[in-house]
Amino acid sequence: MLYIDTHTHLYDERFDADRPETIRRAVERGVRRMFLPAIDSESHDRLIDLARSWPGTCLAMIGFHPTSVNDNPEWRSELECAARLLEESPVPFYGIGEMGLDLYWSRDYRKEQEEALRFQIELALRYDLPIVLHTREAFTEIIRVIAEYKHRGLRGIFHSFAGTAEQYRILRGLGDFRFGIGGVVTYKKAPIAAVLEQMELTDLVLETDAPYLPPVSFRGQRNESAFLPLIAEKIAGIKGVPLEEVARITTRTAEHLFGLL
Ligand code: NI
Repeated sequence: MLYIDTHTHLYDERFDADRPETIRRAVERGVRRMFLPAIDSESHDRLIDLARSWPGTCLAMIGFHPTSVNDNPEWRSELECAARLLEESPVPFYGIGEMGLDLYWSRDYRKEQEEALRFQIELALRYDLPIVLHTREAFTEIIRVIAEYKHRGLRGIFHSFAGTAEQYRILRGLGDFRFGIGGVVTYKKAPIAAVLEQMELTDLVLETDAPYLPPVSFRGQRNESAFLPLIAEKIAGIKGVPLEEVARITTRTAEHLFGLL
């Protein structure tokens, strides 16, 4: 069975001691491709180095995370930095992200976050790349922004989707969007498990968000891409379909979205 981890921060310092082993473990479990979302310029070099060392296995994205906008006087030059890297393309970039709105920590920077989001949406449209959206405590706000781009061919992933069935239907109607499901779905009483019953399997992609959000049996530990099949197993149980079908369909959806087919 083949899987794609559509969202993993393998360049994070928490993998410094055993990164190649971590990647090999994932590949052995069938996770043959791992997409790396960017955070900010502090980690760009590590992300690019990793993609360069593992071509075809670790695939780079570029973007600027919404929480890195907060309290950061340099946020506009961060956007310029991402735009410059796209232009120079030291490695192929397969998507723009992660970007979005995160009003959980503070609502003071929502205007700045929204400007950063729009800037990156325009980049995605210019380069015809999918976007990876991080949304926390901001569904109403992000729906309003994304709705403005409804007929412009925007496509992408709502990463770590934690919305309602209603929000899923609204977002699905706004463009070619898919929904990233991660370790949270394995947690007891996770609301997303009930929402999943109302989502189409063809709308889902798998993600670990490693080193964050490990599946329930690894809670409190570092997450890694090798744990991705546990998420697929949980989805197979909820949807009442064989694991093979979850692997096959989510892999195909991710390949299609990232232009690998
Ligand atoms: Ni992330």
